Amino acid sequence: MVGLENKNIWIIANWKSNKTIKEALEWIELVGPRLPKNNNLKVVVCPPFTDVEEVKKAVMVGNYPLIVGVQDLSPFEVGPYTGEESAAILKDFVDFAIIGHSERRHNFFETDEMVKEKVEMARKNSITPLVCIEGVDVPIPEGVDLVAYEPIFAIGTGEADTPQSAGKIATLIKQKTGQDTQVLYGGSVTAENASSFLESKILDGLLVGKASLDPGEFVQIVEAVSGGD
Ligand code: 13P
Repeated sequence: MVGLENKNIWIIANWKSNKTIKEALEWIELVGPRLPKNNNLKVVVCPPFTDVEEVKKAVMVGNYPLIVGVQDLSPFEVGPYTGEESAAILKDFVDFAIIGHSERRHNFFETDEMVKEKVEMARKNSITPLVCIEGVDVPIPEGVDLVAYEPIFAIGTGEADTPQSAGKIATLIKQKTGQDTQVLYGGSVTAENASSFLESKILDGLLVGKASLDPGEFVQIVEAVSGGD
């Protein structure tokens, strides 16, 4: 338990390219009722695009304290951009977007410039952007106040960074961008190690990949951080 009295803590489920609509709805039905209602605890789920509408409906019907987001969005406005998901359309369903994840930068050749354009599209459409960086040298677009430090060696490997190292990077990021920037850690977060990253109170939350797919483990992560309040 890290104490949610005076700051926001973000716990974000990045499902990546996983879950059919049926599986997504099963997850929501299991996780939704078990989430604590606390204004300082921001729990976000980022499903694949195809699940987003149904997930949003289920969250609204259940009145769950769960923010729905996407894992990416288009750098363009609506228009002739085949295959792109424009922020102006997504905003009907989502309030949040992961932008510049390392899997997009490495597999889909996403550049710092594209990340900047995507952030602009998100902000223009009242979608909160979370920018992912691999280290302190990666540029953070102006006006972004939510950043996730995700070192490549820790993503999907079971070898998380240490809380001390992640805390040091978070401090450097905050020095660079301003103390109002909230910095999350991501990379092999589990129910077992989740609370250790937030103990020092430097980090402001967690971005969870694989461990977020299992509803039981994800709830355990939220409980480890919030103490169930
Ligand atoms: P894992 O939690 O599976 O290591 O993934 C981390 C991540 O990339 C979250 O965005």
